[in-house]
Parts: sequence; C-alpha cells; structure tokens
Amino acid sequence: MTRPPLKKQVAVPLVLAALFGLAWYVLLRLAPGLPEGAGEREKMAQAAVEWARTLACIAFWMSVALVAVRALNELTFFLFRKRKGYDAPALMRDLFSLVLYVTAGAVILKYTLDLSFAALLPGSALLGIVLGLALQDTLGNLFSGISLHADKPFQVGDVIVVGKHTGVVTSITWRAVKIKTFSNHTVLIGNTVIAKESIEVCPRDNQNARIVFFSAAYTDSPVKVIHAVREAMREAENVLRYITPVVRIRDFGQSSVDYEVKYWLSDYSRYNDTDALVRQRIWYAFRRNGFTFPFPTRTIHVERPSARDGDGRDTETLAELLSAVDIFSPLTPAELSALAAASSNHVYAPGETIIRAGDEGDSMFVVSRGGVDVRVDSNGTQRTISRLGEGAFFGEMALFTGEPRTANVVAAEETEVLEIGHDAMRSLFQTNPDLVEALGRAINERRAGLLANAPAAPGDEDASDGLLSRIRRFFRLD
Ligand code: CMP
Repeated sequence: MTRPPLKKQVAVPLVLAALFGLAWYVLLRLAPGLPEGAGEREKMAQAAVEWARTLACIAFWMSVALVAVRALNELTFFLFRKRKGYDAPALMRDLFSLVLYVTAGAVILKYTLDLSFAALLPGSALLGIVLGLALQDTLGNLFSGISLHADKPFQVGDVIVVGKHTGVVTSITWRAVKIKTFSNHTVLIGNTVIAKESIEVCPRDNQNARIVFFSAAYTDSPVKVIHAVREAMREAENVLRYITPVVRIRDFGQSSVDYEVKYWLSDYSRYNDTDALVRQRIWYAFRRNGFTFPFPTRTIHVERPSARDGDGRDTETLAELLSAVDIFSPLTPAELSALAAASSNHVYAPGETIIRAGDEGDSMFVVSRGGVDVRVDSNGTQRTISRLGEGAFFGEMALFTGEPRTANVVAAEETEVLEIGHDAMRSLFQTNPDLVEALGRAINERRAGLLANAPAAPGDEDASDGLLSRIRRFFRLD
C-alpha cells in the first residue's frame, strides 16, 4: 500500500489545529475569570468553560503533534531512502511514528492536565494485561514482524514460497506479509505464520535458476539434442545471457530419453512465462532438427536375421562406405559386401576412448561418421598426433601384428565407427595379397609418425618387408 503524499497527510490535521486553536482562543476570551461573589451557577459555568478550554488546548496540541510527526516521518524516511537506496519498510515507519505519538501525548498530558507517566503506570500495567490478553495474536504478529525486519530474510519484490503459496512480496507490515500470487491474487500471511514456517526465498537480485524437463526419442542423438536445445535458449527473453544454460540427460525413460534444461533468469517473478517460452523454443528446435517428441509407446521387437547393423544401417550402405576406404579399393563388390556383413557399427560420444594404448586388440576400425584423434602420452600429458576423419581407418597395427595398441584413439566429436574383426580380414588376405602390402605401407608410415612424435618410445626398425612377413606369419598366410 502506498502512502498518500505529505500534503494530503498534513492538510486535515492542519485544519483541525486551526479550528481547535480558534476554539481555545475564543474560550480564553469567554472566561476571563470569576467576578467577586460569583454564585454557584457562575462557578459551574466557569468550570465547564475551563474544561472545554483544556480540551480545546489538548485537541489543538494533538493536531499540531499529528502534523509534526507526519512531517518528521516523511523527512526521516526521505533521508533513509537517499542513503540506503530503497524505501524503509512500512513497519519501521509505523513504529517510528508510534514512539513519537506516545512521547508527544505524554508531554501534552503533562502540560495540560499535569498527568505524568508515573501516575499512569499502575493503570497502564492493568491495561497492559487486559490488552495483552485481548491482542495476543496481534502482538505476536507485531513481534514476529519486528524480528522479520531485523533478520531481513526477504524484501519487497522477492519471490517467496510459504506453505502452498508462491508469489511476489508486495509489502511487509507490522501484521502480515502481503504477496501477489501468479494468479494475481493477494495473499496475506500473518507474521507469526511466517516466523514458524520454512520459507523458500528467491531474491530479486539473485541469479535464480529454473529447471524445465523435456524428452526426446531414443533414436535422436543426445549430442545433437543437447546442442540444439542450448542454442534455442539463446536470446530467449528473460533468460540470463552470461550464464550458459545446462542441458543434460536426466533419465532413460520407458519410451524416451529424458532431459532437463537448467537456465538462469533475469526476473524470477516471471518464471512461468519464461518456462513456457523455453518449452516453445524447444519445440521449434525439435522441428528444425527433425527430432521426435516421444509418445508413451511400447515397441515389440521381432528379432529376424537381418542384414542391418546395430545402428540400423544395412549391409549395402556399409559396403559402399568401405569401398571409399583406399586400402579396400581393390576389393570386389562381393568381397566388400562380405566384409560389411562381418563388421559392426558403433557410435561414440565426443571424448570417449575407442582404443586404449597398451590394450590387446584383434579388430580394426573405419570412421563412418565424425572423426577421431590419435593421441600419445608425452611426459604425462596426452598429445594428439593425428586427426582421422570419415573413411580413415585405425587399429590396424595391433590387428595385423598382434602387438599391443600403440596409441589412444578418442572420438573428437560424435563418431560412428565400423569394427572389422581378425577373421573377416584373414579371409580377404587369402584372396587379395595386395591388401597385405597396402596395409604394410600404411603401418610403416604410421610407425614413422609415432617415432617422430614419441622419440623415447621403443623403436621398431622393421623394414617394410620384415613387417609384411610378420603380418603373413600372424595371419598364417602361405
Ligand atoms: P593400433 O596400434 O592397433 O591402435 C592405435 C592406433 O592408432 C594404431 O593402431 C593406428 O591405427 C593409429 N595410429 C598410430 N600412429 C598413428 C599415426 N602416426 N597416424 C595415424 N594413426 C596412427
């Protein structure tokens, strides 16, 4: 509730002061004193006039006190606002006025009726007990209000959650805290209730966050979903720009991958609108990227021997992919199909390790989508010595020589690889002697790369021929 301007506040008491002052003056003139030998009636009339004069005097000074206290209140809290930068709470202003009124009242009573506080004490003690009992709740609210102001757990403009009520604090008075709910209702919560309940406070100038849930189909790549949603949140109104929203997988649901997006708001009191806007942006991002919103579904898989790999690619597509790999270019379409059928496709998230240096390995890989980094240990840190993109192969060294893996191979982005096992290669070697040579050359080149990048590593000086006979021996080729 806003206070009326000072002019309005003092206008009425000023008029009253003028009226009572006039009455006092008139009564002073009316009763100049009792003449000698005045009768009983004159004495009574004189006493009545004197009482009226005293009352007019009290009323005059009370009106003056009212004007003075209001003006002083306004001045004091104007200075308070200038120094602190915000309005003093209503309760503080009311208490300030109350103290001044009581003081002014005591002074007026002392000088008009000669009543001192000491004389009022016995009566006021009794009155205090009676009032204390009658105003138990009100006083409880008052004292809780005082402690609220001392503690300052929240301020006007903050969003608070008390029990089942959530809303923006609009005022804090000596009796209650007033909040405006998001349905635009006003709820008054007594200060005693506030003091007892646990309150969730979302301060206006805090970096408050919200979490919005959404789901995507299992077939939609998490990396893509996360990227698309994070991008979609950019520049959404009321979403803080300088804190990047966090999008993460929350759960693997029955028919969907469940995600959550955590974002920070400029104005928390508008979180309902902002949540809605965020959901809208997610919808459009899904639409643009061809993601699907999953419905509760139950998928019955009827397993049939199929020519499809784990990620749904058919043998034909895989064979086509393999034909683009330079070492496999001499293979016939039938051989490529056989190789594709014997291999399997795997997907890796960015940063996932596909091959670990030192491990045993009996398969090689072809990058079918994305890219990988070949990394070697250099004085305790991982150094990338090569980036292999789509169509490149890796893991051939351990496969063809039987030695441990020579390097770490890590997915540089979301990457799919085709894994080809020992047996599939063996049957190809028997029909394609050129393949052994092509691989021997590739291995030798890569070894040179390894030696150049890790001079301390045990060198392998095998000449190409030595390597070829080693591959032949390992694959038991004639
Ligand atoms: P392998 O040793 O089985 O496992 C690690 C793989 O990293 C290795 O096979 C090669 O395929 C690959 N690799 C090693 N050194 C290099 C290099 N210099 N350039 C490209 N790839 C390499």
